Amino acid sequence: MNPFLLKGYHSPEYFCDRVEVTRKIINAIENNQDITLYGFRRLGKSALIHHVFHHLQKDYLSIYADIWGTTSIEEFIKELANGIIKSNIFAKRKFSEKLAGFLKSIGASFTIGVDGMPAIEMIYNDRNQAFHNLDEIFGFLNQLKEPVILAVDEFQEIKKYESNAPFEGKMRTITQQCNNVSFLFSGSEFHLLNEIFSTYSKPFYQSTRMLSIDKIDHQEYKEFIQHHFQVAKKNLSETIIDHILEITHRHTYYTQAAMNLLFSQSKLPKTVAEFDLLFKEFVLEKSVFYGELPEQLTRQQFAVVKGFAKSGLVQNPNSADFMEKAKIRSASSMHRIIHSLLEKQIIIKDDNAYRLYDVFLELFLRYTM
Ligand SMILES: Nc1ncnc2c1ncn2[C@@H]1O[C@H](COP(=O)(O)OP(=O)(O)OP(=O)(O)O)[C@@H](O)[C@H]1O
Ligand SMILES: [Mg+2]
Repeated sequence: MNPFLLKGYHSPEYFCDRVEVTRKIINAIENNQDITLYGFRRLGKSALIHHVFHHLQKDYLSIYADIWGTTSIEEFIKELANGIIKSNIFAKRKFSEKLAGFLKSIGASFTIGVDGMPAIEMIYNDRNQAFHNLDEIFGFLNQLKEPVILAVDEFQEIKKYESNAPFEGKMRTITQQCNNVSFLFSGSEFHLLNEIFSTYSKPFYQSTRMLSIDKIDHQEYKEFIQHHFQVAKKNLSETIIDHILEITHRHTYYTQAAMNLLFSQSKLPKTVAEFDLLFKEFVLEKSVFYGELPEQLTRQQFAVVKGFAKSGLVQNPNSADFMEKAKIRSASSMHRIIHSLLEKQIIIKDDNAYRLYDVFLELFLRYTM
């Protein structure tokens, strides 16, 4: 098996570091504190949630619901119900009476998936029923004998629901009533999460502990990588590892992708130049994703994006050097463009510097300029 996973979570063996934040989350759960976890996309939030579940599986029932792409309370409920039936609550007896009762109580129709587990097809209800269904679901979780952790990943999506205000209020009431359930909300759109949890007039105001995940430490990541290559008796030079950690900015998914690619090679590159050749071919395969970018940006915005691709990390976008690279003349134009690229999530502020959010985009543009 390739030890560098590109999706999901396997076990601690294939999960690097995150010791401190894992400890903090577990401590919070054990002390009945609800948590909001945030961090850039593809940094490893979802994997971290499963890592925490792994550590708590003996004592807790754990439910994971990913609500990415849901647009209404009804879809939220469907994902939540799916999370519940796929959780370890029903794992012992695959299709118990308890489960049938639960599905009936929320008016769900379901199919049995290839894994032998049911998956919710539809929940029959009218709009007014949604809050009632939430009561049913949380009533069910609250009466279970063992404590429950409920992780709702991509929680910021609820901000996009049409009727989000009463829903936020309802969810807040539920979190307060359910003593048996610890809530772990997670997401990547910081301004939306911030609106939910840090706005004085909003129901969730300061109701959870805010924890962030950052990049994995260079040395920790390096040792993790070296360990897995050694186990497989593959000899990878330290210089190449350092180089990869640098060009991927240690943005977890991109680092994993580079290492996964390397690990899959029957003959490993010996030099950084050899690696770059291999990686270039890999990154160029992604051209289909980036073809339309110029049309989504103004000419000037795209010029600045290319400036970022040339520079990598940019501490001061108004420096003469970067203005020259990006072909922008006035500081006020640059200011405006940086603002809109941040808003469009094309660039991010990583430590003290700006860079392109998508590391493959950065490399793709650099290789094709
Ligand atoms: N600590 C880690 N060690 C090794 N691999 C990891 C670690 N954290 C995450 N990964 C891997 O990195 C990739 C991205 O992680 P994950 O999907 O958890 O990120 P995310 O922040 O939830 O992303 P998204 O915002 O797209 O949902 C996955 O392939 C995952 O297996
Ligand atoms: Mg995720």
